[in-house]
Amino acid sequence: MENTSSSSLTGKVAVVTGASSGIGRAVAGALAAEGAAVVLAARRRERLEDDARELQGSGARAVAVQTDVTSLGEMRALVARAVDTFGRVDIFVNNAGIMPLSPLTEARVEDWTRMVDVNVNGVLHGIGAVLPHMLERGSGHIVNVGSIAGRRPFPGGTVYAATKFAVRCLSWGLHLELGAEHGIRTTDIQPGYVDTELIDTVPDAAAREAWAERWADKRALQADDVAQAVLYAVTSPPHVAVSEVLVRPLDQPT
Ligand SMILES: NC(=O)c1ccc[n+]([C@@H]2O[C@H](COP(=O)([O-])OP(=O)(O)OC[C@H]3O[C@@H](n4cnc5c(N)ncnc54)[C@H](OP(=O)(O)O)[C@@H]3O)[C@@H](O)[C@H]2O)c1
Repeated sequence: MENTSSSSLTGKVAVVTGASSGIGRAVAGALAAEGAAVVLAARRRERLEDDARELQGSGARAVAVQTDVTSLGEMRALVARAVDTFGRVDIFVNNAGIMPLSPLTEARVEDWTRMVDVNVNGVLHGIGAVLPHMLERGSGHIVNVGSIAGRRPFPGGTVYAATKFAVRCLSWGLHLELGAEHGIRTTDIQPGYVDTELIDTVPDAAAREAWAERWADKRALQADDVAQAVLYAVTSPPHVAVSEVLVRPLDQPT
């Protein structure tokens, strides 16, 4: 039987937001290891530059671009820089996200709007910035990092889950509007709990400690486990749309 799968991203160009830590950093490393040129985006410039140097040292093509996803102008500049540097964008990973959890009763409205700004508007900015380029080329793959919370809310995470429901809806709609007609693929990656710095964005120390306690004797996912799910989606044959990937720890029942 003919093997139609591609195992290499040589010649492809990928942009990854939130590449300065956790899942985004692992995704960028995994894409680079498969041969893609990678554009690392986040706010912490030094981390990105260190990682870009390390990737270059291992023979990859990599560049760091300090970017705040809440700025449409910066996201457009990010895409322009990727095209200037590497000639095109094949894969755009909307990964940047924050999770300042709190019960609705605390009415931490500023945290809610910050989450919407990064987790929803940031994704919209990514889509809006890269789409004209992908439409012009008639191909591309947008990977959105949603969450298992995009399928069901959890106490203290209602607004976070709402942002991830939005990411799931946007991903679905992208496939509807752009898949068959424009050749643009979309994947919503939905991780369960991953051991990253994300939990540090929870403002309430007691909630952070409760989380740590809950996971103390359980095995969380590692960022690279999620990166492998992204690799699976982006290296699938061109006629395959891996629309959603729910990947969670075996120790996470819901
Ligand atoms: N960890 C989990 O359990 C889990 C589960 C499901 C889904 N996710 C999702 O996975 C994604 C990555 O999270 P993670 O777990 O890897 O957390 P992380 O280690 O805290 O990484 C978050 C990344 O987002 C970036 N970021 C935050 N605000 C930004 C902004 N305004 N502009 C640009 N970049 C920004 C951060 O970089 P800078 O601070 O340098 O800007 C960082 O690189 C998020 O969308 C998260 O919701 C995580």
